[in-house]
Amino acid sequence: MPTSTTPSDVVVVGGGIVGLAVAWRAASAGLSVTVLDPSPGDGATRAAAGMLAAVAEADFGERGLTRLDLASAARWPAFATGLAEATGRDVPLLRAGSLAVAYDADDLALLRRVLALHREWGLSSAELAVADARRREPYLGPRLAGAAALDDDLAVDPRTVHAALAAALTQDRGDRLVGRSAVRVERDAAGRAAAVHDDAGTRHAAGAVVLATGAVPTAALLAGLPGVRVPVRPVKGITLRLDAGPGLALAHVVRGTVQGRPVYVVPRAAGTGSGPGGGPGHREIVVGATSEERPDDRRAEAGGVFALLRDARALVPGLDEAALVDVTPRARPVTPDNLPLIGATAVPGLLAAVGHGRNGVLLAPLTADAILAELTGEVLPDLDLAAADPRRFTPAADPVPGAAR
Ligand code: GLY
Repeated sequence: MPTSTTPSDVVVVGGGIVGLAVAWRAASAGLSVTVLDPSPGDGATRAAAGMLAAVAEADFGERGLTRLDLASAARWPAFATGLAEATGRDVPLLRAGSLAVAYDADDLALLRRVLALHREWGLSSAELAVADARRREPYLGPRLAGAAALDDDLAVDPRTVHAALAAALTQDRGDRLVGRSAVRVERDAAGRAAAVHDDAGTRHAAGAVVLATGAVPTAALLAGLPGVRVPVRPVKGITLRLDAGPGLALAHVVRGTVQGRPVYVVPRAAGTGSGPGGGPGHREIVVGATSEERPDDRRAEAGGVFALLRDARALVPGLDEAALVDVTPRARPVTPDNLPLIGATAVPGLLAAVGHGRNGVLLAPLTADAILAELTGEVLPDLDLAAADPRRFTPAADPVPGAAR
């Protein structure tokens, strides 16, 4: 017989930024919550730079995703304030906006196509003369072909947010963060998700189960759950963290293409730097990210690191003086249509909050609101989540969920 824990209203499988955001929202609404994760926050959350970049990430053919991104970006200021109030921790948002820059003429042609897409979709962006971009951000490099201002995009430190979410969950309500892997979802006689079994043999009974598994493979966990498909594949990325001294007081997210290769440079506030020789005027600067269709092997290939540094210093040459303090290779959880899975699955009581691809940090508040609404039966009038319905991947031929277990 498995040992059992006290039943929770909600068991969340996965303690990355999405899983913990869901758990915190649920706990704040008075639900009891258990989160299962052997290493919370050590997946895509660990690598994420934290750009809340609904505009900069808007891409051709992805209007549905951009709508979700915008809806979640609008939620971020209140989410950050609420988390800061709940924990007494700082959850600062970088509000200076992003500068999109083009390195050469071909990069500028691409930037202008993207700016035209922004106009078509009503997104806020404006081309700038390079001299004007440099007036805004004096640390831009000398050899740029063009620039644009994306003033609405924000940024946040995902590691800070994750630590605050974990503190909020565990500090006073006794909600549980269990360091085990989920191995099976159990259904009751009516076919409803009723418990999660972990790899220590413990049964966690639940009113509802939320899958927030990120890029972790789920085939074994979901075996025997009719109609539930989580077609998430890993898309590996490497991000770098640098410690920059007071001589590189970068104020904006700088992102762009360098001879067709995308790169971004995300500064934190002064005082966030770390590593030997750091000091109060130092800040963390994140450089990212590679993007490769390959498993989460956690290897930081020298070629990927080299390419990121080469391209980042083409946009911000002062990075040469910064110290490289952290290299983080992780996989993004990406779906076939680049849209996340948010909401009810084909099994009653089993919800999905997974597959957020490049935008997990950005989409965390929206996902948390949507899952809470699903749990409580509330309707969110301002939110159309049809495009993210997890059941879009349920094959028509799959059996209707029933009593069989
Ligand atoms: N959100 C940016 C990235 O995935 O690289």
